Amino acid sequence: MKKIFVSQPFLGQAETEAVNIALSRSEISGFSGNFIGNFESMFARYCDCTSGVAVSNGTNALHLALVALGIRQNDEVLVSTLTNMASFFAVLYQGAIPVPIDIQADTLNMDTALLESKITPKTRAILVVHLFGHPVDMDPVNDIAKKYNLSVVEDCAEAHGALYKGKKVGSLSDAGCFSFYANKIITTGEGGMVTTNDAVLAERMRSFKCLAFGDDLKFMHKDIGYNYRLTNLQAAIGCAQIEKIEEIISNKRRIAAYYEQKLRGIDEIQLPVEKPYARNVYWMYHVVLKNKNLAQRSRIMKYLQDKGIESREGFIPYNLQDIFIARGLTRKEDCPIANSVAYNSFYLPSGPVLSEEDMDYVVENLKDALDAT
Ligand SMILES: Cc1ncc(COP(=O)(O)O)c(C=O)c1O
Repeated sequence: MKKIFVSQPFLGQAETEAVNIALSRSEISGFSGNFIGNFESMFARYCDCTSGVAVSNGTNALHLALVALGIRQNDEVLVSTLTNMASFFAVLYQGAIPVPIDIQADTLNMDTALLESKITPKTRAILVVHLFGHPVDMDPVNDIAKKYNLSVVEDCAEAHGALYKGKKVGSLSDAGCFSFYANKIITTGEGGMVTTNDAVLAERMRSFKCLAFGDDLKFMHKDIGYNYRLTNLQAAIGCAQIEKIEEIISNKRRIAAYYEQKLRGIDEIQLPVEKPYARNVYWMYHVVLKNKNLAQRSRIMKYLQDKGIESREGFIPYNLQDIFIARGLTRKEDCPIANSVAYNSFYLPSGPVLSEEDMDYVVENLKDALDAT
């Protein structure tokens, strides 16, 4: 039977050669070799930022940014409720209090119109998530942040190369936090990066990610540091990947356009959008079931699975996470729009090498599954 995966990394000879160079020189750690510095500067330049700080994964990127921005215990951070829980965990690692913000029904990103009503004297930051590759409407976020003197952090884990009004995500706030996990737009297996245009913040992050070693005496530490280093081996893969990022994005956009053309007009399913201010990089082609297919997700995903088509369920929002409800941190009813999406969304195979034949097979079976209701 045909097998179509949700995603596959786009790797080739260049990645193998780069890793072999690092290996042959025994430059394998997070301190040795040129690939780390090269990857940081290439990626920062790609994001129109002056600095990039490479780290071991996207979760650490978020945490490092919050640490360096001085987010502390009992500070409140406004976070889009619908996201990978890593966005919330990073806030909780600091003992800070995440405040979930409901989403817009079409982009599934933070509804910025709700932000101001959630601000209290304890609010210190806004953490936006460019979900599934669509940028957040950043102007209102930055206006509110300026008015209330808040930091802004972008979770760009799913949106490398996405544009907001022609500007790259990762350059639209104090710090942009990327993941290079294997299913991301570009990958280093595991890995991450924080981009910024603030040189002082970048230096703070460089120190914190390396155990805050001392300057004169290395082992007289300047603070409680972390080991969040990316290895030179991983950075070698990153240097090869960044060369192909636009090719990967155009493939993602090709796939989205193809699905859109084939699925447009079906009442039972909401498709991803691209707002006039956006270049969506369509990290994953994420759909939401509607009308007579509401609450049919398990059946539909099982139907696809039986045909060899892998799909993946969408995120469960923070306000529906049992552990946080039990701790009194949030309530189910806090974010009604996210709740209506939560158990009705999933994503279709979206790897950059999908052929039209593969997508036709996906679409045909998805239509059959929707009709079977
Ligand atoms: C929106 C979002 N934020 C953060 C992360 C965490 O990144 P990592 O898995 O590299 O720690 C991910 C995904 O993995 C993500 O999708």
